[in-house]
Amino acid sequence: MNKRTSPIIIGNWKTTPATLSLAVKFVKQLDKKLEKGKIKLSKKSYYLAVPDIFIPTLKEISGGYIGSQNISGVSLGQTTGETIPSQILSGGADFTIIGHSEVRARGETADDRAHKVALSLQSRLTTILCVGELVRDKEGKYLGELEDDLKQSLLLVSKNLFENLIIAYEPVWAIGGTTPATPQECFEVVIAIRRALASLVGIDYAKKIHVLYGGTVTKNNAKTFIEEGDVDGLLIGRSSQDVETFEEIINACHSA
Ligand code: 13P
Repeated sequence: MNKRTSPIIIGNWKTTPATLSLAVKFVKQLDKKLEKGKIKLSKKSYYLAVPDIFIPTLKEISGGYIGSQNISGVSLGQTTGETIPSQILSGGADFTIIGHSEVRARGETADDRAHKVALSLQSRLTTILCVGELVRDKEGKYLGELEDDLKQSLLLVSKNLFENLIIAYEPVWAIGGTTPATPQECFEVVIAIRRALASLVGIDYAKKIHVLYGGTVTKNNAKTFIEEGDVDGLLIGRSSQDVETFEEIINACHSA
């Protein structure tokens, strides 16, 4: 197992739950279950990426880190319907996800992403940047494409800001389905991700950047990615939207 840190377990709530009161109920139940659990978790043991409107309230009551699922890369001023990193931060967010495949599918470009990542890191917001191939080709060209994608997204970031960066490997074919990547498949991509990072900031620094896996993580497979896939944590969709399942995963990963 990778012993760089205690695992970073992030739930991506997407467009759930339907109301703030359901979100509050979830977080209270989760914290109570974790407190009563067999494993004594010393500090904040989970992250939740929630709808922006829930952030201030959940930040007040949650025992974990609370963040957003996307931000805008535009500047302060005249852009309707966008939320910029300083606003998310002042609402209490600890982190944001950027470049999720579901955001990319709605038209986010590489240029948009580069601006978002730069602005987010300049604002000192912990930034979870997602990368992942749509499909895999037998020749392994997708590995080079992932490295290029990562480098393009980090094009505008100066080296001293990488300390607040986390990379999430989320193969698009594994998101929302029934078949996750295998830990071995994950392991190979983590090597490619670190190679790309090393080309930007040097190998020693690159080794310290946390890399996560996401895509059909369940309570049965969660631990294997950390133990065999060489990742530092997980980015979890559906399994983070059920309080019992999420609690089981948090406990399982912290005992891995
Ligand atoms: P699932 O865990 O539901 O496959 O979703 C993964 C994801 O998109 C996390 O960001």
